[in-house]
Amino acid sequence: MKRFLPLVVTLLPVALFLGARGPAALPTSDPKMATPRYDKTGALVRPEGFERWTFVGANIGMSYSEEAQAGPGEFHNIYTQPEAYAAYAATGKFPENTMFLLVVHEPAQKVSINKSGYFEGPMKGLAVSVKDREHSPEGWAFYSFDEGAKLAATAKAMPTAMCFDCHAKHADDDHVFVQFHPILRQARPRSP
Ligand code: HEC
Repeated sequence: MKRFLPLVVTLLPVALFLGARGPAALPTSDPKMATPRYDKTGALVRPEGFERWTFVGANIGMSYSEEAQAGPGEFHNIYTQPEAYAAYAATGKFPENTMFLLVVHEPAQKVSINKSGYFEGPMKGLAVSVKDREHSPEGWAFYSFDEGAKLAATAKAMPTAMCFDCHAKHADDDHVFVQFHPILRQARPRSP
């Protein structure tokens, strides 16, 4: 026993230090990560600079309603903060303050040399999901920045029946439709 005592004395502070850091499974936000900003009414300020965020997938014409639509429908491009993507790839969890931006573009065609197919025309909408338990009791809140022809500067959280409920029920992983975004499908760590 005596022989182990020095070892215990040396390792005990290390163990206490590691213990004090809390459960390792809960990823904390990277301090560099862009965090959601709210105005004094609690509305989300439109996140900027997403052009430099991580692009996780795109789709065209995906609609949530049964109504038939003319043409190919809208393009959706989805982005998240690079640090949120890195945390997800490393741990399989989205850290607090994760944001997803769904950027909507109208389809356009027959411009310049284009004869067939569609490319992304003007941006016409922005939907955002935010994981912020301090701000929203459900853990995630959903915002739409559409305001006629231009994007609103701030948006109030949408009622849960409008957005949250479908994401909670049908999204593959923690309210995020990972199943539809190839970069996230690929990043999802394999189950042990
Ligand atoms: C009936 C189900 C449904 C409803 C209601 C819904 N969504 Fe989604 N949402 C989806 C699906 C499916 C996707 C993935 C495909 C896509 O549309 O790009 C998605 C994707 C998103 C994304 C990209 C991140 C992710 O989870 O994939 C955001 C942000 C988003 N929705 C915001 C909203 C907002 C804001 C509302 C309410 C105004 C809303 N959604 C209502 C089904 C829904």
